[in-house]
Amino acid sequence: MALDMSTLVSLCKRRGFIFQSSEIYGGINSCWDYGPLGVELKNNIKRVWWQAMVNREDIEGLDASILMHPKVWEASGHVAGFTDPLVDCKKCKHRFRPDQLQEKKCPDCGGALTELRMFNLMFKTFMGPVEDESSSVYLRPETAQGIYVNFLNVQSTLRHKIPFGIAQIGKAFRNEITPGNFIFRTREFEQMEMQYFVKPGTDEEWFEHWKEERLTWHKALGLNPKKLQFHQHGTDELAHYAKKAFDVQYEFPFGWQEIEGIHNRTDFDLSRHQEFSGKSLQYFDEATKEKYIPYVIETSVGCDRTLLACLIDAYAEEEERSVLRFHPKLAPIKVAFFPLIKDAGLQELTHKLQEETRPYFLTRYDEAGSIGRRYRRQDEIGTPLCVTVDFDSLKDQAVTVRDRDSMKQDRVSTSQLLEFLRKKIVL
Ligand code: GAP
Repeated sequence: MALDMSTLVSLCKRRGFIFQSSEIYGGINSCWDYGPLGVELKNNIKRVWWQAMVNREDIEGLDASILMHPKVWEASGHVAGFTDPLVDCKKCKHRFRPDQLQEKKCPDCGGALTELRMFNLMFKTFMGPVEDESSSVYLRPETAQGIYVNFLNVQSTLRHKIPFGIAQIGKAFRNEITPGNFIFRTREFEQMEMQYFVKPGTDEEWFEHWKEERLTWHKALGLNPKKLQFHQHGTDELAHYAKKAFDVQYEFPFGWQEIEGIHNRTDFDLSRHQEFSGKSLQYFDEATKEKYIPYVIETSVGCDRTLLACLIDAYAEEEERSVLRFHPKLAPIKVAFFPLIKDAGLQELTHKLQEETRPYFLTRYDEAGSIGRRYRRQDEIGTPLCVTVDFDSLKDQAVTVRDRDSMKQDRVSTSQLLEFLRKKIVL
């Protein structure tokens, strides 16, 4: 049975994964705050992505600024082309995308609708004390442009030969007309993007390479492979910069939807920045003495959407418990420590073992309620292992380690405990 999204939203709130932003003021549409467990899960996703994309010889990391020179967005085509068609209700002022309307009347109040107009999705603000057109800047709608404008900085300072890539993680902002489905489509979100610069003519090959690499990455996160597929963009779906594009889609409870886009952006962006800035962005190939503007293969994955897919995929309801079966590398808390009861001797040994583990994993201590209830609480937040210290532990220096998925219990000597945990939780 498909998971009901409201069950997930309430679990996320109840257990401290995701809260509605500004909740005490009634919330703000489509904005969400990651709570203590949500931020751990999100950091783990980012760490796993960074490890896969940057811990290699041909890709460098970057952290570019969110605010950029306004000309960047003229050059990138976002000022002219990053638009959605929109109609307004003249009576209740609600906004709709025409493709979502069945009739020519407002679906909310029956009021008359305005003519269709194009609505730019970029957020505009002002830099400095004067609010006029000359001081207006945009919040970036994609992180990619920060990479393009730094292409030669990175290439020349780190002496890279083509092909090579630049990766970054950061916030992006889009004034979406129809945000929704919890954290799936929001106006502020985080992207993990990599731009791979290649010699023109080799782009098709590199496109295929990155397409496969990225699908493999999603599978390695632990997502059910049956719920992952590619979707090729038809000519009517292609973004203004793309020659070819494939989405990695996940089967959400609300249907198959994009979590990542792989795009062949050709030399579009670098050529446009060269034209608008007047600075050469050509690469000089020492070996062949050729000068050219590289083509770009882009992989662009939403961190929030990946996190939503991981939550949905991990969630299971069983007879006596609900459980998040996260891959251990994603689990917010890796190991929970329990004394069997509130006894000074047991508490002391539990704290000691937890302290020995703390430098390696995020751990939590719990002594409230029965052991069964404590297991259920950890199952519900996806903690892979629980360690229980009982009265025998004080005599035989061994503890019980309980596995979240199999619920199997192992008796492990305290001197071997760290090694045991480290074998089970590979980061
Ligand atoms: N630089 C290319 C680019 O931005 P995109 O397909 O528009 O491409 C890439 O976005 C990814 O960013 C999407 O696959 C999705 O995961 C995420 N994303 C885009 N818009 C989003 C939104 N409004 N809310 C949450 N995630 C979003």
